[in-house]
Amino acid sequence: MKTSASPRFPSFFTVAFFLLFSSSFSETRNFLPRGSSLSVEDDSDILTSLDQTFTCGFYGMGDNACWFSIWFTNSKERTVVWMANRDRPVNGQGSRISLRPDGAMVLTDVDDSTIWETNTTSTDVSRAELLDTGNLVLKDTRGKILWQSFDFPTDTLLPNQFFTKSTKLISRLGRGMYSSGYFNFFFDNNNVLTLMYDGPDISSIYWPDPDFGVFGSHRTNYNSSRVAVFDEMGNFLSSDEFQFSASDMGFGIIRRLTMDYDGNLRLYSLNNETGLWVTTWEAMLEQCKVHGICGRNAICVYTPKPKCSCPPGYEVTEPGNWHKGCKPKFNQTCSQELTFVQVGQVDFYGFDLNYTQSISRDTCSKFCLEDCRCVAFSYRLSGDGRCYIKSALFNGYKSPNFPGSIYLKVPASVGRYESAILSGTNPICGSNDSTIMMGLPSMYDTISKKVKWVYLYWFVSAIGVIEILIASAGWLLFGRHGVPDSVEEGYCAITSQFRKFRYAELKKATMNFKEVLGRGGSGAVYKGVLADERVVAVKRLEGISYQGEDVFWAEVSTIGQIYHMNLVRMWGFCAEASHRLLVYEYMEHQSLDKHLFSRSSLGWKERFKVALGTAKGLAYLHHECLEWVIHCDVKPENILLHTEFEPKISDFGLAKLSNRGGSNSELSRIRGTKGYMAPEWALNLPITAKVDVYSYGVVILEIVKGIRLSNLIIEDGEAQESELTRFVRVVKPKINCKEESWIEEIVDQRLNGEYSRRQVMKIVEVAICCVEEDRDQRPTMDSVVEALLECEDESKIHSPYAQ
Ligand SMILES: *[C@@H]1O[C@H](CO)[C@@H](O)[C@H](O)[C@H]1NC(C)=O
Ligand SMILES: *[C@@H]1O[C@H](CO)[C@@H](O)[C@H](O)[C@H]1NC(C)=O
Ligand SMILES: *[C@@H]1O[C@H](CO)[C@@H](O)[C@H](O)[C@H]1NC(C)=O
Ligand SMILES: *[C@@H]1O[C@H](CO)[C@@H](O)[C@H](O)[C@H]1NC(C)=O
Ligand SMILES: *[C@@H]1O[C@H](CO)[C@@H](O)[C@H](O)[C@H]1NC(C)=O
Ligand SMILES: *[C@@H]1O[C@H](CO)[C@@H](O)[C@H](O)[C@H]1NC(C)=O
Repeated sequence: MKTSASPRFPSFFTVAFFLLFSSSFSETRNFLPRGSSLSVEDDSDILTSLDQTFTCGFYGMGDNACWFSIWFTNSKERTVVWMANRDRPVNGQGSRISLRPDGAMVLTDVDDSTIWETNTTSTDVSRAELLDTGNLVLKDTRGKILWQSFDFPTDTLLPNQFFTKSTKLISRLGRGMYSSGYFNFFFDNNNVLTLMYDGPDISSIYWPDPDFGVFGSHRTNYNSSRVAVFDEMGNFLSSDEFQFSASDMGFGIIRRLTMDYDGNLRLYSLNNETGLWVTTWEAMLEQCKVHGICGRNAICVYTPKPKCSCPPGYEVTEPGNWHKGCKPKFNQTCSQELTFVQVGQVDFYGFDLNYTQSISRDTCSKFCLEDCRCVAFSYRLSGDGRCYIKSALFNGYKSPNFPGSIYLKVPASVGRYESAILSGTNPICGSNDSTIMMGLPSMYDTISKKVKWVYLYWFVSAIGVIEILIASAGWLLFGRHGVPDSVEEGYCAITSQFRKFRYAELKKATMNFKEVLGRGGSGAVYKGVLADERVVAVKRLEGISYQGEDVFWAEVSTIGQIYHMNLVRMWGFCAEASHRLLVYEYMEHQSLDKHLFSRSSLGWKERFKVALGTAKGLAYLHHECLEWVIHCDVKPENILLHTEFEPKISDFGLAKLSNRGGSNSELSRIRGTKGYMAPEWALNLPITAKVDVYSYGVVILEIVKGIRLSNLIIEDGEAQESELTRFVRVVKPKINCKEESWIEEIVDQRLNGEYSRRQVMKIVEVAICCVEEDRDQRPTMDSVVEALLECEDESKIHSPYAQ
């Protein structure tokens, strides 16, 4: 007899009947009555929530390690939400979880010892029930909840589960490990939501960003209620005013917020078709800024995935275990001749003996030499020269945004280091899956699957928007920039100043949309000055039917999270009634085309800087940033020049703002800008990041030649070919034979021979690979950046500081 086959009986009694008298009953059930138990040996001894989303039972790894857990029923790989005994696994034989007659739920091991129990002894608990929310509750006869698993989270928070002053998320130790690890998410004593590394050697707070502090990170410590929660839509709100929305905000999606073992806090959505998790928000956009991941003396680098690496003069302490970091290959004593090795774009956080501003690098190095405790100094070029003397090296990371270097103190006898370039040839973190830290494979597997999904999504949503991009390209920006360079360019560029503006505010800032900077299909761009005196460019989107305000907010806030010194920064947006506006940072100089194709032109140094900076910006969009953005319309008009001709890419991410719908018939209309478009646009192939690589290749060839390659058609008798095709046909074989005579012919005559031959060679080589017809032959933007960096500044690379 089956429950469903007895409609005349109330199903509750039927189920209860079976539970009491038949322990091998295999129908799913969502509760356990008082006096009964679940056994570890029987796989069918589980509870399943009524809507089937969650399952509760024993989760085992091998014979001797089982945990009483709750997991998602439908994810491809079992994803555990909660564990009763994460640090004390029980035996795979003879262990049980029982709801004892005295009211307590008790987990016992094979020897009957109590491993875990609830605080409900001597209460009238009548049953344990797994709710649809993923909450396991103990209820009394009247249905009152006496205990709930939601009060004792492990590393995961679910929708509508309150995060309070008495709860904490603690990461797992590593991949395939369930015991408590080192990364903590909690409300600190100042009422602020915090991420902290709490390891055996050190503990250190890394979020909110310690460089900005509580208020600089737009938090408050005034509200002592200390409560945070996220709803079914994917909106997270905390009493310290921290809030965010999932990038796929909306109902009907299964989500979890997890303190991951790599130190990042992430919100995930379950793709109900593939059963895989997709990241829809993460706290740390720069993974290497998580503290404690690589251990003492080690440096976290992007290759492009985050990996640990030892600085020059140091070696891995214990191969396979980055917790132990790196150890010096020399004896650290003060009684010898000492020198420094410079490692660029690298900093170590904390352990400052002393911080001094406005001094030269030589003075800074003198401070370090004079102090025996000093092992290195960090020197920031931004502003007026900041000097940090370090007593220990922890939390090392490399960041393209870091405007300085670390200088490691080494004995002069150790030898000199030609150049301290960190690369993926160094030992790789987590190369052994069972190593503890940075064993990122699982996370990255998820993400790489996500990438495909995003690509498809972009493909569809690119329709129409491309046209907008063409029309709006090249908004002209004149005048002075309002933000101090030290703030804008420097280390401190990373702050969450993204916000929502009121329409009235923007109307006032632009003096009722008076000064037009440019106009395009998506609307016009106006110059404005905010109340805080920041000069901004306000783009007023028009003529597109948008989704609701909420969706708009979710999508622009994702773009707002993207920041890199080579990307135009979005400061905020406005969505009021039918108004949709975007607020951008204001660029001092015009777009690249105005400089490149006009009578006065750029010098070689600037051209190289633009080529490299643009590559860095695209590499960031493609590889490092949260959303894996494909630009789809890279061209000189979309490369704006900032002070000192630092390039900033504009108009990325806008495809997100269009309607996502679109029928296949419209796919044929997808267009970038003629001349910069990769062949696959015409071939109707799915669009990948390689379309940007192609366009970039055309742009850097134009930078070398100083003319539009895209427009020209050479008529040679009958045959027609574009300037680009001809160029590749002629130059490619010469490069292959290491011939160099072509250089003089192709370089822009306006440079009067003032350029670096080596850099021209490199750019042309890179460009020719980028414009390969076969997209698989094109390099990634990351490798383009690496190739260009090799010849960025030859003299700098070959003369390490203070030998
Ligand atoms: C058990 O502990 C939780 C959390 O500490 C508390 O809210 C609950 O009231 C306790 N239950 C009993 C019956 O003491
Ligand atoms: C404190 O935060 C809670 C939860 O977000 C909110 O309901 C409450 O109004 C806040 N109190 C103050 C004084 O802002
Ligand atoms: C998957 O989820 C989407 C909403 O995110 C929903 O529209 C769709 O029906 C779901 N598919 C299945 C098979 O449940
Ligand atoms: C470091 O010092 C120890 C003992 O003081 C000595 O045995 C060792 O050879 C030294 N190593 C180097 C590289 O000088
Ligand atoms: C930092 O150290 C140097 C040298 O030890 C000293 O001259 C300087 O005054 C110190 N600065 C501060 C702020 O303590
Ligand atoms: C990986 O780690 C496991 C267990 O720690 C060890 O047995 C195995 O030999 C390691 N593999 C490599 C390639 O280091």
